[in-house]
Amino acid sequence: MIKIGLLGFGTVNSGVYEGITDTIEFLEHHLQESICVVKILIRNKKRYLSLENSELLTDSPDEFFKHEFDVVFEAIGGEQPALDYITFLLTKKVPVITANKELVAKHGQLLESLAIKNETYLGFEAAVAGGIPIINTLNSQLQWTSVEKVSGILNGTTNYIMTKLQEGNRTFDSVLKEAQDLGFAEADPTADIEGFDVLYKLQILCRLCFGNWPKPEQFQRRGMSQLKSWHFKAGECFNLKLKYIAEAYYDGKEVKGSISPSFIEESHPLRSIDNENNGVYLQGEWLGNFVASGPGAGKKPTATSMIEDFLHQLKRKSYHQQVAKRKEGSVACDQEYLLL
Ligand code: HSE
Repeated sequence: MIKIGLLGFGTVNSGVYEGITDTIEFLEHHLQESICVVKILIRNKKRYLSLENSELLTDSPDEFFKHEFDVVFEAIGGEQPALDYITFLLTKKVPVITANKELVAKHGQLLESLAIKNETYLGFEAAVAGGIPIINTLNSQLQWTSVEKVSGILNGTTNYIMTKLQEGNRTFDSVLKEAQDLGFAEADPTADIEGFDVLYKLQILCRLCFGNWPKPEQFQRRGMSQLKSWHFKAGECFNLKLKYIAEAYYDGKEVKGSISPSFIEESHPLRSIDNENNGVYLQGEWLGNFVASGPGAGKKPTATSMIEDFLHQLKRKSYHQQVAKRKEGSVACDQEYLLL
């Protein structure tokens, strides 16, 4: 039996729980093994008393970590206590699937090395661009070709706000409230509006596109709170559309980038990406122009990335175990799997 733990039960992990329970027969058939959510750690138990299966919930970390898990999904967000929890789990060789972009951007180097050292897995597909499977594409599919520049619309909340403001007759505050009600915005929307959320996501993409973990100082960041309706009108006069664009490139010495409201032309591949959708645009000499777009925030798309990441990890593991068995006595295959 695959025993699952959930750290947090907000928008993302309640989606993971529903996704798993609603498709349990398919998952068990696909994995040829039974699976079960054994414990959920939440902050305030009283909030969830009406939940069916409320015996799964605990607000005690000690009680949660008494259980044995085969995989843990982390969606509590922020640096602490998520960092302590994930460090503990990886050290115990438990694979962790996380949606926590702040944690991965700030501590990715440490967490990746812990996962490698302990021969386990840290998955963060859900940390960037919600439901778009860009992390595993960069990690596993694009292994040979090089990326020279990465651009994107990486925040659903700000793209939603900009789309609605562009359409006219709406105020910033009313559209932000709508984005919060729809479950796109962070608990403190400052991270969305001032570009910190995009910065974390761009740092993660840069790690996968260019190799090293970049520092925040390598990026210029401008929030979108100063935007006025006349900015949109001025753009329209020149057939330019305002979008919140993140971009980064390697200049031969280091990675540099920016996050800023930007006027983009009709031919720009990210121009038609509206509402809470995100887009990732990669450019490379051999790759040409690669664009992926899709829902960037919200319960179902983000939970999709979490569950797919979990299955991806199991598939890679079993593939490499089979290869390892064939090459009897060799440990190289396992290491190869861990470094992928
Ligand atoms: N607040 C984030 C956004 C959630 O709006 O994109 C998904 O990372």
